[in-house]
Amino acid sequence: MTVDRAAGLLAQARSVVVFTGAGVSAESGIPTFRDVQTGLWERFDAQALATPQAWAADPDLVWGWYEWRRTVVGRARPNAAHRAIAAIEAAKPGTVVVTQNVDDLHEQAGSPAPIHLHGSLTAPRCARCGTPRPPDGPADEPAEGRRLTPPVCERCGGAVRPGVVWFGEALPEAALTAAAEAAASCDLLLTIGTSGLVYPAAEIPQVAARCGAWVIQVNPRPTPLDEVATVNLRGPAAEILPALTALTS
Ligand code: OAD
Repeated sequence: MTVDRAAGLLAQARSVVVFTGAGVSAESGIPTFRDVQTGLWERFDAQALATPQAWAADPDLVWGWYEWRRTVVGRARPNAAHRAIAAIEAAKPGTVVVTQNVDDLHEQAGSPAPIHLHGSLTAPRCARCGTPRPPDGPADEPAEGRRLTPPVCERCGGAVRPGVVWFGEALPEAALTAAAEAAASCDLLLTIGTSGLVYPAAEIPQVAARCGAWVIQVNPRPTPLDEVATVNLRGPAAEILPALTALTS
């Protein structure tokens, strides 16, 4: 069985990278981006919400949308996949978790320091001077499409923007470098719940494969990463990951 094969590779691996996307949080009730019907980019226009141009044109629309997402995420709890990933880290010290997700469910499940390639919903900063401004508290209403005026930076009076990476923006350099270095030197990379379509993040599993690492993919659907996967585990992360870790513990 493929899960046995994956467990065998994981047991042998000395240096592991876990690379996650929206699918790992799907079973916590957080919508993915590209799944048919439920994906955020199926229902909303990314160009109007997740670009610097969108922010310049209509900051209230953008801030309101990200506050809605922060509410959804604030109500979510880690699932069995997040917990299995934390268990892998505990069993194999030195494991590096790299996530494209802007939620904090890896941290809540016990992952000490996941690398966030696309920022975080809980780390807003001034759009003008960059000063961080932590959110005031839980967002109040989960109303989709509600416009909200962004807070004002206490330092310079600029508008505070969501602390996420938008289309057309560079990824945080230190995070990308640390992720690429970990991928280049690992002997096994687990890619979980990502479509593998968004670059440069999608380069991370490709780097690991090019450097000779085994790649285990967990995803119910085919992705472009099928080509580099040593083992493909087709199914939901919250079922597959606990099955995998049960075989290695
Ligand atoms: P996508 O929505 O592109 O892909 C989600 C993947 O998760 C798909 O391949 C699904 O088949 C898979 N999936 C769905 N349910 C799953 C489950 N229960 N278990 C495992 N896999 C499941 O999300 P990402 O690949 O994360 O960027 O998207 C990458 C980036 O695109 C995001 O970080 C975001 C988005 O625009 C920014 O916000 C900058």
